[in-house]
Amino acid sequence: MSIPTICWVDDCVKIIDQTKLPHKLEYIYCRDVRVLWKAIKNLSVRGAPALGVAAAFGVLLGANAFKSKDAERFRKHIAEVCAYIGTSRPTAVNLFNALARMQGLVLSHATATVEEIKKLLQEEALAMYEEDRRVCRMMGKFGARLIKSGQRIMTVCNAGALATVDYGTALGVMYRAKEEGKNFKVYACETRPLLQGARLTAWELLREKIDTTLICDNMAATLMKQGKVDILFAGADRIASNGDTANKIGTYSLAVLAHFHGVPFYIVAPLSTFDRAIPTGAHIPIEERNKTEVLGFGAQRTAPESVDVYNPAFDVTDHKLITAIITEKGMIRPPFKKNIQKVFMLEQKSNVLRSRKSL
Ligand code: MRU
Repeated sequence: MSIPTICWVDDCVKIIDQTKLPHKLEYIYCRDVRVLWKAIKNLSVRGAPALGVAAAFGVLLGANAFKSKDAERFRKHIAEVCAYIGTSRPTAVNLFNALARMQGLVLSHATATVEEIKKLLQEEALAMYEEDRRVCRMMGKFGARLIKSGQRIMTVCNAGALATVDYGTALGVMYRAKEEGKNFKVYACETRPLLQGARLTAWELLREKIDTTLICDNMAATLMKQGKVDILFAGADRIASNGDTANKIGTYSLAVLAHFHGVPFYIVAPLSTFDRAIPTGAHIPIEERNKTEVLGFGAQRTAPESVDVYNPAFDVTDHKLITAIITEKGMIRPPFKKNIQKVFMLEQKSNVLRSRKSL
């Protein structure tokens, strides 16, 4: 299983235009950071891990557009490019973590020339790209252990190859289970208003010949009541220090339903989706999108133009409703605050050891 969603080719960012799926598989070639910003804003490229890599490549586009040798002005220019990319979408922390990583690199090479920094930035962005490919497969390996043949799985939005570089988080778990020879069924929630479940998840799963049934979001309760859902997997856009998790709007309702019906609810997300600077989900900025997305389906209007609309793109699931969080380092179980802290401390230690070895 592999769908190349985003890559760096011939000094430009090549992305699948996800607004065209499932009807057309088309690509956008972003040669300018403004084109990439627009692609992020209108969801041509989307999904938290893919947004992280897109942001890193965006910094590279901005860096390469700088033609002078003035290193001081270049540093200022990179800070402006990062701030600009940061205005595209507010919720997925992967985007901001990637920008901080790129910016950190510039700051830690105070005496480097413009050309040297450009080279370092390119290496860093490509490293993030490779890391995404690797960590998605690690999460897949850990998560697939939870899947047994014959199970009925529910998922929401699209946390698949299209939301990452090429493999997926929640769907990556399913791809790995399939690779291991397990047979299971997936209920994909269509995910109003922009239908990432219907358009993208259904497309991906069918390509992989996984038994898939599409449902409207408001059918999930009935399925659970009928005992037709054994396990839920969802992705994440930002996870607070206590495990509260922001994901596509509707995820919280599914978590409440799963809790009521005794169905385990798993989040699948890499460490780059954690925001350890915030104590709880109450601090997560939730993107509100244009009312036109709710007023109809695509170009077709279904509601009176003058009606008021509320369109938050994400909601926050309380950590108490989450069975465990599957990361590239394994499964994080409750108590989340303590166990998340532990995972990051171990990660920090192994990073220190790695950098000592490379000296
Ligand atoms: O608005 P989107 O399509 O970017 O929302 C995406 C999601 O909510 C995903 O579930 C999340 O980013 C995790 S993707 C692995």
